[in-house]
Amino acid sequence: MSLIEHNPYRKDFPAAEQVISGKRLAYLDSAATNLKPSLVIDELDRYYRIETSNVHRGLYWLSENATTKFEATRDKIQGLINAPDRSQVIFTKGTTESVNLVAQSYVRNFLQRGDTILLSQMEHHSNIVPWQIVAEEKGIFIKVIPINQRGEILLDEYRKLLTPEVKFVSVVFISNALGTINPVKEMTRLAHENGAKVFIDAAQAISHEKVDVQDLDVDFLAFSGHKMFGPTGVGVLYGKLDLLNQMPPYQGGGDMIDVVTFEKTTYNNLPHKFEAGTPSISAVIGLGKAVDYLQDIGLHRIHEIETQLLAYATEKLKSIPGLKIYGEAEHKASVISFGLEGIHPHDIAALIDKEGVAIRTGHHCAQPLMKFFDVPATCRASMSIYNNKADIDQLYLALVKLKKFFE
Ligand code: ALA
Repeated sequence: MSLIEHNPYRKDFPAAEQVISGKRLAYLDSAATNLKPSLVIDELDRYYRIETSNVHRGLYWLSENATTKFEATRDKIQGLINAPDRSQVIFTKGTTESVNLVAQSYVRNFLQRGDTILLSQMEHHSNIVPWQIVAEEKGIFIKVIPINQRGEILLDEYRKLLTPEVKFVSVVFISNALGTINPVKEMTRLAHENGAKVFIDAAQAISHEKVDVQDLDVDFLAFSGHKMFGPTGVGVLYGKLDLLNQMPPYQGGGDMIDVVTFEKTTYNNLPHKFEAGTPSISAVIGLGKAVDYLQDIGLHRIHEIETQLLAYATEKLKSIPGLKIYGEAEHKASVISFGLEGIHPHDIAALIDKEGVAIRTGHHCAQPLMKFFDVPATCRASMSIYNNKADIDQLYLALVKLKKFFE
């Protein structure tokens, strides 16, 4: 347990070590957004303090510098996810916008009335609602892949659902609410055998698991910068080239055009066809530093720390009488959803906040999942590479104190 007793990465994150209202902070809400390392913060500072300028538009040094850094992030992301071509890396506002882009540009144009989309029971609202909006308009059906009480997808049921009408499958790689790591490679293979395209929501996975788009053979994949130690306001959509090339633009504006006349407009090549308007330049540049940071540490090391954190936290929380964990999948990331008998999750979060513990409570943007477990909400502690044993001890002691208060 030495890595989590003296976590060597904690010092890289200025926000990890702070006192709020007289209490040491235990930040356990990394699934919502993770803390940022100094090198990302410094890069944002440099952009705003010195290097501010727009990209793809200026023939002066500052603009060329910003463009070079902006496009370098695209190359880094290409390497990180092993995309065959850099033009398959499209910058969006985040995972949510990436889903909406594919729903509006691909599903709206390439699926027909009577086709079916499969989603799993554990999807985030952002991987449900965008498909629903198009499905309702076009007469497309949505069917749900069931899960078991441990929070695992039932693969046999999934196989049965894969009928010829299924043209699209969208599944989360790691559940934000439960931490379940889904067998997305196998699910993609099965969907392809059935002739369906596959979208993977990798928002939670990108900083925890190997995400190799060629190995997974996915058609589309999305993630957000702020869940991989980068800034908010930027995300990525990856897509297979033939699909992206066939798809019409999602939004019109500057940068996405080739020639504009009032009679007819032609569009720019990939990836710019899908990047209308001034992008979140600072966020993209900062994201490049986040990729450097992630790769310098390496997934092996991240797994090592997170496995220790998950094991220690699970053991501590399970020792509290009346505490129930939701989601105990065999393959699980460092996320623990839980409830305490007789105490509303909102009361738990509000009271342990007074002890310096930051967790998320609520439906975690996964209301159908809460319905499955028959609870209105859960508490969720989610851990990342800067957490240590003291953070978990603080959570444990706050929960024990809270229980006594309610007795
Ligand atoms: N999707 C984020 C979460 O799970 C916001 O908290």
